[in-house]
Amino acid sequence: MLDLLITHANLPDGRADMSVAVRDGRIVEVAPRIDAQAHETIDAGGMLLTPHFVDPHFHMDATLSYGLPRVNESGTLLEGIALWGELKPTLTADAIIERALAYCDWAVAKGLLAIRSHVDTSDPSLLAVDALLEVKRRVAPYLDLQLVAFPQDGVLRTRGGVDNLKRALDKGVDVVGGIPHFERTMTDGAASVKLLCEIAAERGKLVDMHCDESDDPLSRHIETLAFETQRLGLHGRVTGSHCTSMHSMDNYYVSKLLPLIAESQVSVVANPLINITLQGRHDSYPKRRGMTRVPELTTAGVNVAFGHDCVMDPWYSLGSGDMLEVAHMGLHVAQMTSQDAMRRCFAAVTTNAAKVMHLERHGLDVGCDASFVLLQARDPIEAIRLRATRLKVFRRGRLVAESAPAQAKLFVHGRDQPVSWMR
Ligand code: FE2
Repeated sequence: MLDLLITHANLPDGRADMSVAVRDGRIVEVAPRIDAQAHETIDAGGMLLTPHFVDPHFHMDATLSYGLPRVNESGTLLEGIALWGELKPTLTADAIIERALAYCDWAVAKGLLAIRSHVDTSDPSLLAVDALLEVKRRVAPYLDLQLVAFPQDGVLRTRGGVDNLKRALDKGVDVVGGIPHFERTMTDGAASVKLLCEIAAERGKLVDMHCDESDDPLSRHIETLAFETQRLGLHGRVTGSHCTSMHSMDNYYVSKLLPLIAESQVSVVANPLINITLQGRHDSYPKRRGMTRVPELTTAGVNVAFGHDCVMDPWYSLGSGDMLEVAHMGLHVAQMTSQDAMRRCFAAVTTNAAKVMHLERHGLDVGCDASFVLLQARDPIEAIRLRATRLKVFRRGRLVAESAPAQAKLFVHGRDQPVSWMR
């Protein structure tokens, strides 16, 4: 007896009219037809069943704080960091927890069931670390929250920065982060990358560094990160986030850099919504868009994922936890408009992002967690185009959210006529 049987589903790899069988929270069979009894059977009616969305880059300690204590007037990364510095002394654990839990509710409703969140370790009290560890514990029944020790003010630039970061790891934070472009000099930035990678290697941790988040064509910490990854044998365990300077780098240099990133198996996370709003602020016209070179990285064999980065915080005033909105923006900014490229944008917020987080049971293969989303769209491209409604969201075989289908009634042709936006 199965717990759950989904029938007549389209899958992201193009297979149509498939059935997916679930027992004990895991997928036990995927086939065109499954003749078995189930406690619950859902006819997908040709809609897309996808592994759940994954956000590989977020800042949950700052989320939903928009306007506190004021809004970012210049719209720059640096004013955002300064604003966060003004907010930090007023933060309480309860307020961080309340906002983070509210965001996790939004996420689950949007089929976003795994989030890698950076947490600021600059404050010696580690207030935000303790708060997000508590959030991680509370949301565990319905959402995977992975935390990155993130020295927002610079691990070398901040007094006690290394010690604070190590204490955060001791408390149970999963991943080693960094912000080399915010250290005082390029040399200090490179030193921070080396130091932080060594800490990760010693402790057997993954690495995810904010890397070169600027328009400076000479900011090259991603090179150091890939080199240190190779030197320390951390292949496949390291991510470079943002890498916006690559947008502005010299083409010859990039042709040398891309193979290094690919060989070291460093993943790259672009954050389209944030990159195009924060970067280019010092330009007149033409204004650079700042997002890293997604198609070129992908062609070079690098695993590229898209993150949300921010929702209603000192850096970004919008957002709702919708990874299809992220994919939609990434597709436009990177001009990834071929059929194959649009599908890769969908993968950037599902399978590629899961690879960044090392989520081993993410997918629709036998043995994977039955953590999937039934979308009101027939394929990944339609899903991105419509930012499709999440009809049903399952985690490990259990229904955790559902939404009514998006539909409008028209009264312009002399009769009631439903509109569904599908062609
Ligand atoms: Fe970030």
